[in-house]
Amino acid sequence: MMLKYAIKTAAMLGLLGASSLLADNTAILEGQRSHPAVGQHGMVATSHSLATQVALEVLKNGGNAIDAAVTAGFALAVTQPRSGNIGGGGFMLVSSEKTGKVEAIDYREKAPRAAFETLFQDDNGEVVKERSRYSHLSAGVPGTVAGLALALEQYGTISLAEALAPAIKLASEGFIVPERFSKGLKSRHERLSKWEYGRNLFYKEYGGFYEAGERFVQTDLANTLRRIAEQGTKGFYEGETAELIVRDMQQNDGLITLQDLKSYQAIIRQPVHGTYRGHDIYSMSPPSSGGAHIVQILNMLEGYPMGEHGSNSSQSIHLMAEVMKRAYADRAEHLGDSDFVKVPLQGLTSKPYAEQLRADIDIGKATPSNTVRAGDPLPFESNETTHFSIADQYGNAVSNTYTINFSYGSGIAVPGAGFLLNNEMDDFSAKPGVANAYGLLGGEANKIEPEKRMLSSMSPTIVKKDGKNFLVTGSPGGSRIITTTLQVIMNIIDHRMNVQSAVNEPRIHHQWLPDEIRIEAGISRDTIKLLEDKGHKVVQKRAMGAIQSILIEDGTFYGAADPRRSTSSAQGY
Ligand code: DON
Repeated sequence: MMLKYAIKTAAMLGLLGASSLLADNTAILEGQRSHPAVGQHGMVATSHSLATQVALEVLKNGGNAIDAAVTAGFALAVTQPRSGNIGGGGFMLVSSEKTGKVEAIDYREKAPRAAFETLFQDDNGEVVKERSRYSHLSAGVPGTVAGLALALEQYGTISLAEALAPAIKLASEGFIVPERFSKGLKSRHERLSKWEYGRNLFYKEYGGFYEAGERFVQTDLANTLRRIAEQGTKGFYEGETAELIVRDMQQNDGLITLQDLKSYQAIIRQPVHGTYRGHDIYSMSPPSSGGAHIVQILNMLEGYPMGEHGSNSSQSIHLMAEVMKRAYADRAEHLGDSDFVKVPLQGLTSKPYAEQLRADIDIGKATPSNTVRAGDPLPFESNETTHFSIADQYGNAVSNTYTINFSYGSGIAVPGAGFLLNNEMDDFSAKPGVANAYGLLGGEANKIEPEKRMLSSMSPTIVKKDGKNFLVTGSPGGSRIITTTLQVIMNIIDHRMNVQSAVNEPRIHHQWLPDEIRIEAGISRDTIKLLEDKGHKVVQKRAMGAIQSILIEDGTFYGAADPRRSTSSAQGY
């Protein structure tokens, strides 16, 4: 009885990850699994309870959503090294109801100056995956520190040192590791222990593993974070940390130089804007493809009564798959860093273009992907891994997705600096027609060029209704990010679900090639059969994404952490 009460209380406080709840039948019976966190003043949803707690503390002390977001960003770099980072990059959307503006911070990694188009091809023109994924060449110039600092400078009220303080404490004093942390490092032992420094950083002497419940201390990382607290971005992009990165590059045939680091800048951009059934959708613009294709897909779906078709019915999934394959065909052709190539953003996101694409969709039959080609949005141009969501009592909302690409990035930790380098260079198109790790194709628009940002799918999104922040959402998941985010938007707007149900609902995905609808567990056999009858290939694979979301209605904040990650936690106050 006492245990049952303790679990229920912990669940309400957001102290337990969803899988702990799933493991407990009494909690399921009492409905706690889908009980969203509720707050009157603010809400934080991240993929790690310690990050949620330190960010919530900032809100309670009067800080705004941006202060809390930067604090969470640095805390995740300590508590969740598989994706939280200072060695990677990402995107942040910031919405202020006061100014009515939604702005984006682009802190995506950049190709080093010495990079070139065929960097990942051998003498015969064959792509060498090891090079783009696990070598020092796979790392783009990190953007996270510049991005978080810019966010604070532009919209925050606390200092960088204040935002870093909880992360420094967690790194220097250590924290108790959850099961997911321990399992993650065990599963990537081979990759991470290839490098002597990483082996000593992530594993005990003689290769022992950190088990759940044990304390994990990161002294080098604490010192790296202290240098940022003391010197600002210069404490990362110049001086000791920069030198540690460059020394490692020079010893291992990497390309990043002191000049690459010193000249890295995060950029404020206009997010992509679209509408869907009376809601304003804001999501990430290039160099992410996320916003363009979420808006494009929603534009196509607006022509169908998706609410009437119902969530995850065969008719809904059929139409979703059809529009997704058309959008991903366009992605492969048209998307890249808009500082380098002309991305026909206005055409891609225009309602008439969506109408044209919709015209050849058969409502009863799948179009084979080999007959779907990228469209021509140009006539519609009139002459554009881990996610967290935070909302505060002042009308600010932050939607942030950042990553080092794979779990643990390239698997290479910078000796002496205590953090992992990204392998984001694999998001470039290594060669036309050769897919990246997420099966995504790309061409000319996303070829490697010096100082270019590699194309992303990350889609931090804010939906507004009647001028007010309504839904703050986003997810990891590589190519599945766009469709994961899309489905939470649809589950809220079309299917009227509460935010936790919208997050929990089984997801589907189609990315043009391979020509298959990928589904999560939970789609009924009957539905699969009906989809196969329409000519679709349906394959069930592992869970997609980990979407951390906040819904704001009538001044109340409803948080929903994704049960697909056991450490996820949404807490309000
Ligand atoms: O930017 C992108 O699209 C990818 N590098 C994101 C990687 C990712 O989401 C991995 N997480 N599951």
